[in-house]
Amino acid sequence: MQSLVGKHCFITGGSRGIGLAIARLFAAQGADCTLIGRDEHTLLSAVNSLHRQERSPQQHYTAAFDVSTKNGWEKLISDSKLQTCDVLVNAAGVSQNSFLFNTSTSDVNQIIATNLTGTIWSCKYFIPKMMKQRKGCIINVASLLATHGGRGASVYAASKAGVVGLTRSLAWEVGRFGIRANVLVPGYIQTDMTKDMDQKSELSALIPLGRLGLVEEVANAALFLAQNSYAHNCVLNIDGGLSAT
Ligand SMILES: NC(=O)c1ccc[n+]([C@@H]2O[C@H](COP(=O)([O-])OP(=O)(O)OC[C@H]3O[C@@H](n4cnc5c(N)ncnc54)[C@H](OP(=O)(O)O)[C@@H]3O)[C@@H](O)[C@H]2O)c1
Repeated sequence: MQSLVGKHCFITGGSRGIGLAIARLFAAQGADCTLIGRDEHTLLSAVNSLHRQERSPQQHYTAAFDVSTKNGWEKLISDSKLQTCDVLVNAAGVSQNSFLFNTSTSDVNQIIATNLTGTIWSCKYFIPKMMKQRKGCIINVASLLATHGGRGASVYAASKAGVVGLTRSLAWEVGRFGIRANVLVPGYIQTDMTKDMDQKSELSALIPLGRLGLVEEVANAALFLAQNSYAHNCVLNIDGGLSAT
């Protein structure tokens, strides 16, 4: 198992929900974390909630930008404080709640740009750093809807299917450089993204474990992927068994 002490982890979507839970767990394991999101204020309160070990040089950072923008990534990548990247978690995402024929062009563009293009930029910009280090770990966050589809979630499902395809292709491309690439496939998890969903009790009844998942449960799966040195090209469902139905 690889220790996270002194490792630098970048987490997009680290200001809230699943990304923040991953950052909290990684920081508790001794990692330095850089949290990425659009809102500086939310990022600051998130970063202040991260564990810092006493008498250790552990440092955390924030970077506020839209992951779908190429110049946001270029600025981040040139920041001299943030030169090493041991673990890259791509958890920034936006959801959809509309049939395709009712989804506006701007919503289609935003979902694809954030969930898929943002993840592509992130990997594209960090892989050369990891190649120089001859090591690194990429954890992309997809969704069960990528493989199962979802009513009112066509564009979201397409974006997440793209994230699965991206990650599996990267596993081919980067393994020889000592870089591991894996994808988490959560089912329904209690976060801001699901808080306004209708019919949660009916949904829970469909899930074999009878409930939505917790962010800490997803974070725990991310920690496994970060630490297990033979985990590569894993497509790891964390869905309470919903994928079996
Ligand atoms: N919750 C679920 O049931 C579930 C299930 C399967 C997969 N997922 C996936 O898991 C990931 C995390 O979801 P969550 O439930 O934790 O969502 P959440 O609570 O809504 O948090 C979304 C995060 O993404 C950031 N974000 C959104 N758009 C961004 C952009 N353009 N640039 C930079 N940051 C952006 C948000 O920060 P700002 O808004 O401040 O920018 C926030 O930190 C997403 O990729 C989601 O699709 C979630």
